[in-house]
Amino acid sequence: MRFLITGGAGFIGSTLANNLVRRGHTVRVLDDLSAGDAGKLDPGVNFTRGDVEDKPKVWRLLNKVDCVYHLAARVSVPESVLYPREYNKTNVSGTVAIMEAMRDAGIKRVVLASSGAIYGGQTLGKVHEALLPHPDSPYAASKLAAECYVQTIGELWNIETVSLRIFNCYGPGQSIPPTHPPVIPQFMRQILEEGSLVVYGNGTQTRDFIYVDDVVEALVAAATADGISRQVINIGTGIGTNINQLIRCIEGVTHKKGKIVVSPSNSGGVSNLVANTDKAQRLLDFKAKTSLEKGIALLKARDAHFV
Ligand SMILES: NC(=O)c1ccc[n+]([C@@H]2O[C@H](COP(=O)([O-])OP(=O)(O)OC[C@H]3O[C@@H](n4cnc5c(N)ncnc54)[C@H](O)[C@@H]3O)[C@@H](O)[C@H]2O)c1
Repeated sequence: MRFLITGGAGFIGSTLANNLVRRGHTVRVLDDLSAGDAGKLDPGVNFTRGDVEDKPKVWRLLNKVDCVYHLAARVSVPESVLYPREYNKTNVSGTVAIMEAMRDAGIKRVVLASSGAIYGGQTLGKVHEALLPHPDSPYAASKLAAECYVQTIGELWNIETVSLRIFNCYGPGQSIPPTHPPVIPQFMRQILEEGSLVVYGNGTQTRDFIYVDDVVEALVAAATADGISRQVINIGTGIGTNINQLIRCIEGVTHKKGKIVVSPSNSGGVSNLVANTDKAQRLLDFKAKTSLEKGIALLKARDAHFV
C-alpha cells in the first residue's frame, strides 16, 4: 500500500513509518520539523519537509495514496495552556487543510492520531468511547475538534475515517524538551543521572502507559480493518499505573534509586486516566503486548539518551 504520514518525523510517526517500510509498503512523510527529526527515518522513507497547510505540497504527496495517517500536531498540554491559538492553528486548521486536500485528491481513508486527553478528569475507573469528552486543556480541545472535523468532512465526502485516542505513549525516540518533558523519559533520565524527581502531591495520579510499538500495531491495523469508518477507538493497555509505581518500575530496571522531592502543588494533571480497551480488541483485534517493565527495559536499551 501507499501511505502518507503527516508528522511522520516525530516520535510515533517515525516509528510507524519505519515499521511500514519494513513491511514492504511505500511511505511518504510530511513534517515541518518543528519537533521532528528526519534523521530517525529509514532511508526507504520518502521524506518531505513542509507544513500540513501547504496545499500544493500536500496535493503532490497525496498522489495515488491509499491511506493517510494524520499525526502532525503540537503535543504539549502545558504549552497549549500558554499558546492556545497556535494549538488551534496546527491541530485544528491543519487537520481541516488535510481533509480538504484529501477530498480533492479522492483519498479513501484517514487515520487520525487523537488522544485520551479528550476525556479530561473522570471519576470513572476506565474511560470508554461512549463517555462525554471533557477536554480540560487547549490541547485536548484541539484534538476533539480535529476528531469532529475528520468525521464530518469524511461523512460529507465519503472518506473513511477512524480516530485512535492514544493514551500515554512512551518508547525510544521520544524527545525530552527542556520544558514540560513527558514523565517517563524525564524520570528515566533523572534516575540514571542521579538527579531529583519531582512528585506532585502523593504520587497517586494514575495513567495508562503504552509502549510505542504497540501503538504502531494499532495504527497499522486501523489502515485496513473493515467496518471501522467513523469510529473513535481507545488505544491503551487498560492497565493503570500511578506515579509511585512508575518510579519503582524504573528503579527496578535501572537498579538505581530515585531521589524524590515532593511538591505540594497540584500540577500533576488529572488524577486518573486509564483506557477501556474493549472496542480496540473488538474492532481492531488489538491488545497491547508490552508490559511496563519490558517497555522501560526496551527504552533503556534502545534510546540514545539512555544507552
Ligand atoms: N505521544 C503520546 O503520548 C500521544 C498520546 C496521544 C496522542 N498523540 C498524538 O500522536 C501524534 C504524534 O505525537 P508524538 O508524540 O509523536 O509527537 P511529536 O511531536 O514527536 O510528533 C508530531 C510531529 O508533527 C510535526 N508537526 C507539527 N506541526 C506540523 C505542521 N504544521 N506541519 C507538518 N508537521 C508538523 C512535528 O515536527 C513532529 O515531528 C500527535 O498527533 C499527538 O497529538 C500522542
